[in-house]
Amino acid sequence: MRKPLKIQTILYLTLVMLWPGAYSLAEAPQQPILFSHKVHAGDYEVPCLYCHGYARRSTVAGVPSVRKCMGCHKIVAIDKPEIKKLQQYWNDGESIPWVRIYLLPDHVQFNHRRHVLGEVKCQECHGPVETMAEIEQFSSLKMGWCLKCHKKREASIDCFTCHR
Ligand code: HEC
Ligand code: HEC
Ligand code: HEC
Ligand code: HEC
Ligand code: HEC
Repeated sequence: MRKPLKIQTILYLTLVMLWPGAYSLAEAPQQPILFSHKVHAGDYEVPCLYCHGYARRSTVAGVPSVRKCMGCHKIVAIDKPEIKKLQQYWNDGESIPWVRIYLLPDHVQFNHRRHVLGEVKCQECHGPVETMAEIEQFSSLKMGWCLKCHKKREASIDCFTCHR
């Protein structure tokens, strides 16, 4: 017969489970519209930079505007419930409150442009996004993760590169 768990063990396990950051790779959050990268970037091969064009020229990658979505969805799948939600945002002139997944602490400097121009593929950091129905966090975003690649690719590992 299995021995029942001691109360201390249960408390300890609960603490570990609830400890902030115990799971560095969080599950995909619930998004306001069921947007699938697999459908858009995978099946229909829409290029990443078509929707995340800022990645080429700025620190952030940005998410596409409702206008960009409507460029196709004024015609495509207009009778689907999820597209009806999209039309509602468009009619109300509101942006879609997407839940952010990748986020660094404020004390860290990150720059998409430098990486994109340095020929680091989106997928090296974000994983096989074109296969994901829902985006999940693929990399830990820990300092050790940044440094490992910087050493390998002979990019700067000076503290002031990433901290200011
Ligand atoms: C048709 C437009 C479109 C295309 C094409 C597209 N994306 Fe996205 N992407 C979005 C939207 C909308 C979101 C916000 C909703 C979400 O997280 O799923 C997003 C979110 C993301 C996120 C998460 C951002 C966060 O919250 O941290 C990553 C990473 C990402 N995209 C990478 C890619 C990559 C890599 C490709 C190419 C393989 C790609 N995307 C192609 C529209 C697009
Ligand atoms: C070297 C790793 C790396 C590469 C390459 C990279 N990203 Fe990111 N991405 C990150 C990190 C780190 C964050 C969080 C940045 C922050 O919080 O300041 C992020 C955030 C994002 C976001 C959400 C926030 C934002 O910046 O607007 C999107 C969307 C995104 N990336 C898409 C892309 C796409 C598309 C590509 C390829 C064109 C790409 N990323 C290439 C590491 C990377
Ligand atoms: C380049 C054209 C294009 C752009 C831009 C685009 N989509 Fe799509 N989208 C499609 C196609 C094609 C389908 C597949 C339609 C089908 O299977 O009937 C699709 C399917 C969808 C679906 C699934 C509909 C369903 O229930 O079957 C949703 C939701 C969606 N798109 C949301 C968005 C959002 C949100 C944006 C903007 C961030 C966006 N799309 C931008 C072309 C596009
Ligand atoms: C998969 C590889 C890879 C990962 C992961 C990565 N980087 Fe980089 N990073 C590079 C490369 C390569 C360069 C040099 C690009 C160039 O040639 O300009 C670079 C350059 C940079 C620069 C510009 C350096 C300068 O000289 O101004 C910053 C800032 C930076 N990375 C921050 C980060 C941070 C912060 C992270 C982690 C959140 C990170 N990087 C993760 C590959 C990576
Ligand atoms: C390539 C980018 C990069 C470089 C270079 C870098 N860091 Fe970091 N650092 C990060 C990132 C990303 C984080 C946030 C994630 C984490 O805490 O691991 C961080 C976090 C930290 C923290 C805060 C840890 C905490 O618990 O909040 C300290 C302190 C720190 N770095 C010191 C340094 C020092 C000292 C150097 C130089 C020897 C350095 N870093 C070089 C990317 C970098």
